[in-house]
Amino acid sequence: MTAPKKRAAILISGRGSNMMSLVEAARRPDFPAEIVVVISNRPDAAGLDWAKAQGIPALAMDHKLYESRAHFEGQIQSVLTASRVDLVCLAGFMRIMTPAFVDAWRDRMLNIHPSLLPAFTGLDTHARAIASGVKFTGCTVHLVRPDMDDGPILGQAVVPILNTDTASTLAQRVLAAEHRLYPKILELFAAGLVTVDGNKSSTISDVNGEWTRFSPQV
Ligand code: GRF
Repeated sequence: MTAPKKRAAILISGRGSNMMSLVEAARRPDFPAEIVVVISNRPDAAGLDWAKAQGIPALAMDHKLYESRAHFEGQIQSVLTASRVDLVCLAGFMRIMTPAFVDAWRDRMLNIHPSLLPAFTGLDTHARAIASGVKFTGCTVHLVRPDMDDGPILGQAVVPILNTDTASTLAQRVLAAEHRLYPKILELFAAGLVTVDGNKSSTISDVNGEWTRFSPQV
Protein backbone atom coordinates (compact mmCIF):
# COMPACT_ATOMS: atom_id res chain seq x y z
CA MET A 1 0.00 0.00 0.00
CA THR A 2 1.39 3.42 -0.89
CA ALA A 3 1.66 5.99 1.90
CA PRO A 4 -0.74 8.95 1.71
CA LYS A 5 0.79 12.06 0.21
CA LYS A 6 2.04 14.66 2.65
CA ARG A 7 -0.02 17.83 2.53
CA ALA A 8 2.33 20.78 1.95
CA ALA A 9 1.82 24.53 2.23
CA ILE A 10 4.09 27.01 0.45
CA LEU A 11 4.71 30.46 1.93
CA ILE A 12 5.90 33.15 -0.48
CA SER A 13 6.41 36.91 -0.61
CA GLY A 14 6.96 37.65 -4.29
CA ARG A 15 7.70 36.18 -7.67
CA GLY A 16 7.25 32.58 -6.52
CA SER A 17 9.50 30.77 -8.99
CA ASN A 18 10.53 28.21 -6.37
CA MET A 19 6.86 27.69 -5.52
CA MET A 20 6.23 27.01 -9.22
CA SER A 21 9.00 24.41 -9.33
CA LEU A 22 7.48 22.64 -6.29
CA VAL A 23 3.96 22.76 -7.75
CA GLU A 24 5.19 21.42 -11.10
CA ALA A 25 7.10 18.58 -9.41
CA ALA A 26 4.13 17.70 -7.22
CA ARG A 27 2.02 17.07 -10.33
CA ARG A 28 3.80 13.75 -10.78
CA PRO A 29 1.40 11.05 -9.62
CA ASP A 30 4.13 9.33 -7.61
CA PHE A 31 5.39 12.52 -5.92
CA PRO A 32 5.01 12.00 -2.15
CA ALA A 33 3.62 15.48 -1.41
CA GLU A 34 0.74 17.58 -2.72
CA ILE A 35 0.58 21.37 -2.52
CA VAL A 36 -2.68 22.17 -0.75
CA VAL A 37 -2.34 25.89 -0.08
CA VAL A 38 -0.14 28.88 -0.95
CA ILE A 39 0.04 31.86 1.41
CA SER A 40 1.69 35.21 0.73
CA ASN A 41 2.28 37.96 3.25
CA ARG A 42 2.25 40.39 0.33
CA PRO A 43 -1.08 40.77 -1.48
CA ASP A 44 0.72 41.89 -4.66
CA ALA A 45 2.94 38.80 -4.88
CA ALA A 46 2.99 37.65 -8.50
CA GLY A 47 3.15 34.04 -7.38
CA LEU A 48 -0.36 34.26 -5.87
CA ASP A 49 -2.03 34.79 -9.24
CA TRP A 50 -0.09 31.95 -10.77
CA ALA A 51 -1.09 29.58 -7.95
CA LYS A 52 -4.76 30.58 -8.27
CA ALA A 53 -4.61 29.96 -12.01
CA GLN A 54 -3.42 26.43 -11.23
CA GLY A 55 -6.47 25.89 -9.05
CA ILE A 56 -4.47 25.90 -5.81
CA PRO A 57 -6.04 27.77 -2.88
CA ALA A 58 -3.89 30.90 -2.61
CA LEU A 59 -4.34 33.45 0.13
CA ALA A 60 -2.89 36.88 0.80
CA MET A 61 -2.33 37.58 4.47
CA ASP A 62 -0.86 41.05 4.72
CA HIS A 63 1.36 41.10 7.81
CA LYS A 64 0.94 44.88 8.06
CA LEU A 65 -2.74 44.42 8.93
CA TYR A 66 -2.00 42.47 12.13
CA GLU A 67 -1.23 44.09 15.43
CA SER A 68 1.69 41.78 16.18
CA ARG A 69 3.83 39.07 14.69
CA ALA A 70 2.07 36.56 16.95
CA HIS A 71 -1.37 37.56 15.62
CA PHE A 72 -0.13 37.29 12.03
CA GLU A 73 1.32 33.85 12.70
CA GLY A 74 -1.87 32.82 14.52
CA GLN A 75 -3.81 33.46 11.33
CA ILE A 76 -1.29 31.51 9.27
CA GLN A 77 -1.52 28.66 11.76
CA SER A 78 -5.33 28.66 11.48
CA VAL A 79 -5.10 28.27 7.70
CA LEU A 80 -2.48 25.53 8.00
CA THR A 81 -4.63 23.66 10.50
CA ALA A 82 -7.79 24.06 8.44
CA SER A 83 -5.92 22.79 5.37
CA ARG A 84 -4.57 19.82 7.38
CA VAL A 85 -1.01 20.72 6.43
CA ASP A 86 1.81 18.30 7.29
CA LEU A 87 4.76 20.27 5.89
CA VAL A 88 5.51 23.94 5.33
CA CYS A 89 7.87 25.06 2.54
CA LEU A 90 9.17 28.60 2.77
CA ALA A 91 9.99 29.81 -0.74
CA GLY A 92 11.18 33.40 -0.79
CA PHE A 93 9.07 34.17 2.29
CA MET A 94 10.52 37.40 3.67
CA ARG A 95 9.19 37.43 7.24
CA ILE A 96 11.09 36.22 10.26
CA MET A 97 8.97 33.81 12.31
CA THR A 98 8.80 33.80 16.10
CA PRO A 99 10.51 30.93 17.94
CA ALA A 100 7.04 29.73 19.04
CA PHE A 101 5.88 29.31 15.44
CA VAL A 102 9.17 27.76 14.35
CA ASP A 103 9.10 25.31 17.26
CA ALA A 104 5.51 24.34 16.44
CA TRP A 105 6.75 23.29 12.98
CA ARG A 106 10.09 21.89 14.10
CA ASP A 107 11.39 19.35 11.56
CA ARG A 108 8.31 20.00 9.41
CA MET A 109 9.28 23.38 7.93
CA LEU A 110 11.79 23.74 5.07
CA ASN A 111 13.44 26.81 3.59
CA ILE A 112 15.60 27.53 0.55
CA HIS A 113 18.45 30.00 0.81
CA PRO A 114 20.57 31.27 -2.10
CA SER A 115 24.03 30.44 -0.74
CA LEU A 116 25.98 27.48 0.53
CA LEU A 117 25.07 27.78 4.20
CA PRO A 118 26.52 28.46 6.70
CA ALA A 119 28.22 31.01 4.42
CA PHE A 120 26.34 34.17 3.48
CA THR A 121 23.25 34.09 5.63
CA GLY A 122 20.87 37.02 5.20
CA LEU A 123 20.31 39.22 2.17
CA ASP A 124 22.40 40.19 -0.89
CA THR A 125 24.08 36.81 -0.90
CA HIS A 126 25.30 36.95 -4.50
CA ALA A 127 26.96 40.38 -4.30
CA ARG A 128 28.60 39.37 -1.03
CA ALA A 129 29.80 36.04 -2.43
CA ILE A 130 31.36 37.79 -5.46
CA ALA A 131 32.97 40.46 -3.27
CA SER A 132 34.44 37.84 -0.96
CA GLY A 133 36.34 36.12 -3.75
CA VAL A 134 34.92 32.62 -3.17
CA LYS A 135 34.95 30.53 -6.34
CA PHE A 136 31.78 28.59 -5.67
CA THR A 137 28.43 29.46 -4.23
CA GLY A 138 25.03 27.82 -4.63
CA CYS A 139 21.89 27.17 -2.68
CA THR A 140 20.78 25.24 0.38
CA VAL A 141 17.53 23.62 1.46
CA HIS A 142 17.39 23.32 5.23
CA LEU A 143 15.01 22.76 8.08
CA VAL A 144 14.01 25.97 9.82
CA ARG A 145 15.25 26.79 13.31
CA PRO A 146 14.62 29.99 15.30
CA ASP A 147 17.88 31.62 14.15
CA MET A 148 17.75 33.02 10.63
CA ASP A 149 19.13 30.72 7.90
CA ASP A 150 20.04 28.13 10.52
CA GLY A 151 19.03 24.49 10.80
CA PRO A 152 19.88 21.01 9.55
CA ILE A 153 21.02 21.10 5.92
CA LEU A 154 18.97 18.77 3.75
CA GLY A 155 20.67 19.40 0.42
CA GLN A 156 22.92 21.79 -1.46
CA ALA A 157 23.67 22.63 -5.08
CA VAL A 158 27.00 24.15 -6.04
CA VAL A 159 27.31 26.91 -8.65
CA PRO A 160 30.70 28.25 -9.80
CA ILE A 161 31.32 31.99 -9.68
CA LEU A 162 32.65 33.19 -13.03
CA ASN A 163 35.07 36.10 -13.40
CA THR A 164 32.46 37.89 -15.49
CA ASP A 165 29.61 37.39 -13.01
CA THR A 166 27.51 40.21 -11.65
CA ALA A 167 25.10 39.64 -8.77
CA SER A 168 22.36 39.40 -11.36
CA THR A 169 23.98 36.83 -13.70
CA LEU A 170 25.00 34.73 -10.71
CA ALA A 171 21.49 34.96 -9.25
CA GLN A 172 20.05 33.56 -12.49
CA ARG A 173 22.27 30.47 -12.39
CA VAL A 174 21.72 29.92 -8.67
CA LEU A 175 17.97 30.24 -9.20
CA ALA A 176 18.10 27.53 -11.88
CA ALA A 177 19.88 25.32 -9.35
CA GLU A 178 17.25 26.16 -6.71
CA HIS A 179 14.54 24.96 -9.06
CA ARG A 180 16.24 21.56 -9.34
CA LEU A 181 17.25 21.22 -5.70
CA TYR A 182 14.07 22.17 -3.82
CA PRO A 183 11.70 19.69 -5.53
CA LYS A 184 14.22 16.87 -5.09
CA ILE A 185 14.67 17.59 -1.41
CA LEU A 186 10.94 17.93 -0.79
CA GLU A 187 10.50 14.59 -2.53
CA LEU A 188 13.08 12.87 -0.29
CA PHE A 189 11.75 14.55 2.83
CA ALA A 190 8.07 13.88 2.17
CA ALA A 191 8.89 10.27 1.34
CA GLY A 192 10.28 9.93 4.86
CA LEU A 193 13.82 9.27 3.65
CA VAL A 194 15.44 11.95 5.81
CA THR A 195 16.36 11.49 9.43
CA VAL A 196 17.29 14.44 11.57
CA ASP A 197 19.88 14.12 14.29
CA GLY A 198 20.29 17.33 16.29
CA ASN A 199 21.51 19.91 13.84
CA LYS A 200 22.43 17.41 11.17
CA SER A 201 20.33 15.49 8.71
CA SER A 202 21.07 12.29 6.91
CA THR A 203 19.21 10.69 4.07
CA ILE A 204 18.67 7.03 4.73
CA SER A 205 18.72 5.70 1.18
CA ASP A 206 21.28 8.17 -0.05
CA VAL A 207 24.46 6.66 1.37
CA ASN A 208 26.66 8.22 -1.30
CA GLY A 209 24.90 11.55 -1.13
CA GLU A 210 24.21 11.82 -4.83
CA TRP A 211 20.61 12.86 -4.27
CA THR A 212 21.37 15.69 -1.92
CA ARG A 213 24.55 17.06 -3.52
CA PHE A 214 24.32 18.72 -6.88
CA SER A 215 27.74 19.13 -8.51
CA PRO A 216 29.13 22.24 -10.14
CA GLN A 217 27.47 23.15 -13.40
CA VAL A 218 28.11 26.34 -15.29
C1 GRF B 1 15.15 32.71 -3.95
O1 GRF B 1 16.43 33.05 -4.40
C2 GRF B 1 15.22 32.03 -2.61
O2 GRF B 1 16.36 31.26 -2.44
C3 GRF B 1 15.25 33.21 -1.66
O3 GRF B 1 14.38 34.14 -2.23
C4 GRF B 1 14.31 33.94 -3.63
C5 GRF B 1 12.87 33.73 -3.96
O4 GRF B 1 12.63 33.65 -5.34
N1 GRF B 1 14.91 32.79 -0.31
P1 GRF B 1 11.24 33.13 -5.85
O5 GRF B 1 10.14 33.98 -5.23
O6 GRF B 1 11.10 31.69 -5.45
O7 GRF B 1 11.28 33.29 -7.35
